[in-house]
Amino acid sequence: MIENRVVLITGSASGMGRDTAFAMAAAGAKVVINDINEEKVVQTVEELKAQGYEALGVVANICDRASVEDMVGTVTSEFSGIDILVNNAGMERAGPIRNLSEEDWDITINVNLKGAFLCTKAVHSQMVKKGFGRIINIASRAWLGGSGQAPYSSAKAGMVGLTRSIALELGKYGVTSNCIAPGLIHTPMWDELEEKTRKYLLSKQPTGKLGETRDIANAVCFLATEESSFITGQVLYVCGGRSLCAS
Ligand SMILES: NC(=O)c1ccc[n+]([C@@H]2O[C@H](COP(=O)([O-])OP(=O)(O)OC[C@H]3O[C@@H](n4cnc5c(N)ncnc54)[C@H](O)[C@@H]3O)[C@@H](O)[C@H]2O)c1
Repeated sequence: MIENRVVLITGSASGMGRDTAFAMAAAGAKVVINDINEEKVVQTVEELKAQGYEALGVVANICDRASVEDMVGTVTSEFSGIDILVNNAGMERAGPIRNLSEEDWDITINVNLKGAFLCTKAVHSQMVKKGFGRIINIASRAWLGGSGQAPYSSAKAGMVGLTRSIALELGKYGVTSNCIAPGLIHTPMWDELEEKTRKYLLSKQPTGKLGETRDIANAVCFLATEESSFITGQVLYVCGGRSLCAS
């Protein structure tokens, strides 16, 4: 049950975060759409409200501590505090290490990892006070390692460490911390790949198919419930079995 829970989903004006917001709103949660893309935030909130859901939009850069604290302050005064945090915002700069710059490294670590840290830091005390909280980090199967993915894989591996540490620290206060590791998911980026690349990637999938954004949304909804209270510090792969393969 997530009815009447307040959920903040970072980077939720697009992709998986957006679909997760709709799925959680349909399950009765009050959803906060955060993103750096203002136009998409406004549009997403309008669409949610048009469907009769309770939603709030907050434009904020999750890499910036002051923006994150302002966002949490706004949500806390508009709603009754934050029950569920989904650290979903992410991006990737990919390429062989010889081509990657310091800036590629910094931005990838900042958005994926530092952002999750800042948001967790800003919301955790109200969860502790309430004796209930769910922190759900969207990492990637790529945390296991990926050729050409050094910054992204490192950032996502860092998210796994963050997830486990927060689970140990906050478990006794009714706050769980878990990680979802998506594999190949059908997003616009997939459609832009060359046919031969798509064929190759699909040949590596034990299930022979891509995941859909709703597969991630379903997993988030499950980990957000009260009924998942005995699950913490875990990595849930939603990747069609790809995490079982060596390469
Ligand atoms: N798409 C995939 O196949 C896939 C696979 C594994 C993991 N993931 C992870 O899932 C998450 C969502 O991926 P997606 O494909 O839906 O991405 P997406 O690009 O569609 O959405 C990410 C959103 O994050 C926002 N964002 C970026 N930087 C931000 C910042 N500093 N502050 C606030 N918002 C910011 C973007 O504006 C964008 O709207 C990411 O963490 C990604 O790494 C995706």
